[in-house]
Amino acid sequence: MADPQLPYFDALLGSFEAGDSAVAEAFGHHVHWGYWEDEPTSRPTPAEFAAAAERLSREVWQAADIRDGDRVLDAGCGFGGTLSSIDAQRSGVALTGLNIDHRQLLRAQQTLAARPANVLGWIQADACSLPFADASFDAVLAVECIFHFPDRRRFFAEAWRVLKPGGHLALSDFLPTRIQLPMTLAAAHWPASLGFYGRVDMRYTTARYERLAAETGFLPVLDRDITRNTLPTYPFLRGLSPGLERRKPSAVAETLFAELTSRLGLLRYRILAFRKPGR
Ligand SMILES: C[S@@+](CC[C@H](N)C(=O)[O-])C[C@H]1O[C@@H](n2cnc3c(N)ncnc32)[C@H](O)[C@@H]1O
Repeated sequence: MADPQLPYFDALLGSFEAGDSAVAEAFGHHVHWGYWEDEPTSRPTPAEFAAAAERLSREVWQAADIRDGDRVLDAGCGFGGTLSSIDAQRSGVALTGLNIDHRQLLRAQQTLAARPANVLGWIQADACSLPFADASFDAVLAVECIFHFPDRRRFFAEAWRVLKPGGHLALSDFLPTRIQLPMTLAAAHWPASLGFYGRVDMRYTTARYERLAAETGFLPVLDRDITRNTLPTYPFLRGLSPGLERRKPSAVAETLFAELTSRLGLLRYRILAFRKPGR
């Protein structure tokens, strides 16, 4: 399987191994931008960031209307934090975490166990080629990872295929506004190997997602702009661990670019949910 080339995960895993407790507390469970209800008055602590991260996961999986007894696929599951959140809140659920990177799955396996009422499993695969039968899941999630996938169109087609009629796909993503789009199109030519965050495709606007959903056959059920709720993450990242970012000079530039365009309202962080019709 192709190496996903995600230097930020190399840095995170290196920090865990080196015993950096702040990085482990912040990112040991969830690796995403988090959801802040209010702007903190001082620089957030790793524990506060971890709470914001847990909150974002919950906002996304709740958008998929996950209920007791459901079968759930988390595509691009990171260290498994989102499935762990569902495990704590729902019963009789069968939870599958899928990731292209076996190192993350190994950590998930070693650190997480399902409650007795639930089943939790892990599988290494590409989210654009899902190794599951048709109509196997009630919900498919992609928390802040779809921009890494080789092709959103293929992922949507695969999510549609493995969902039962009436099932939900919920995701979070960075969406450019039309003004921002030329910049993200230009950035798409930047070699992924030079970046801290690897290959990141931020070319999908709201209109393009709407078209993709219609072409796939999904009904849109939610499009929620939570940019404001992600902004406190930037000062947190600046203060967390300079060591993390120094490993790749582009880290500072890429994070700053995301912060500036988000603060200017050009890049929007959104939660999107879709339903496969039929139940
Ligand atoms: C920003 S992290 C988000 C992780 C997790 N969803 C979370 O919220 O904590 C992006 C994730 O996408 C995964 N990923 C990247 N490309 C993938 C692919 N083609 N198939 C499956 N997972 C992929 C990465 O390994 C990583 O776990």
